Amino acid sequence: MRTVRTVAELREALRDLPRPLGLVPTMGAFHEGHLSLIRRAREENATMVVSLFVNPAQFGPSEDFDAYPRDEERDARLAEEEGVDILFAPQVDEVYPPDHQTYVVMEGIATILEAEKRGTGHFKGVITVVTKLFNMVGPDRAYFGQKDAQQVLIIRKLVRDLNFPVEIVVCPTIREPGGLALSSRNVYLSGPERERATALSRSLRAADEAVVSGERDPDRVLAVARAVLDEAGIEPEYLELRSLEDLSPVERVNGSTLLAVAARVGNARLIDNAILGGA
Ligand code: PAJ
Repeated sequence: MRTVRTVAELREALRDLPRPLGLVPTMGAFHEGHLSLIRRAREENATMVVSLFVNPAQFGPSEDFDAYPRDEERDARLAEEEGVDILFAPQVDEVYPPDHQTYVVMEGIATILEAEKRGTGHFKGVITVVTKLFNMVGPDRAYFGQKDAQQVLIIRKLVRDLNFPVEIVVCPTIREPGGLALSSRNVYLSGPERERATALSRSLRAADEAVVSGERDPDRVLAVARAVLDEAGIEPEYLELRSLEDLSPVERVNGSTLLAVAARVGNARLIDNAILGGA
């Protein structure tokens, strides 16, 4: 594996490597969720690039950019073990030189849910950096986790709207045995908070069971999920049923309904989601 820090080095390193080329964009602090994307990309591509960049543009002013866990040495070791060809780990200045002024913004689905809680700058930062990574790396396929369901829909839309010749591959959410979705931010949780945080995935599962048993009324499905959060003393930032296609509100729950939740547990802001009804 080669670690490269500049776009020039990256292009030079990629010149003679075979296609198809897979890209896994990450902010590092690898866990099994990241590794599942890397393994899938390794299986499906002749050449594999992982980008490791804690993207300042997607953090709000009061968010955890400085505290965000960083351990490049460990990440590089794990990437190498998974057979990654190139680890692209640029400095902030390489991605955003001081005179950088161009950003990519999306209307509609990038202005709701996470955007309402974290500010519209969050997805502007994500969309801009993913656009730049696609242009820098030029992948045939790029891999994203369903854990960030809204991000996935936004990236799919970005690729359609701006005609990127990239196939988006979405990988399932990897969880701890107790159900907690793996996240780099789980390191902020104490032992008891980690236990309490399992209420997020338990609330999704309870809602899913209600739907599988025939419940189709959104309010009743939400009430089932909310009861689980209440019992754990968790007040969600949002708990919403949305259409899987465009994140619009639903009148009836069906096989393509997304239940998305965000909540603070201790110092960690956690998100999780499920597609209801066994779809
Ligand atoms: P990051 O949070 O590091 O996540 C990198 C990728 O791993 C994302 O596609 C995310 O959805 C996926 N992922 C995270 N936790 C997962 C889990 N438990 N199971 C499966 N996949 C999981 O998401 C970002 O970085 C950034 O926004 C990025 C796309 C890199 C742009 O900066």
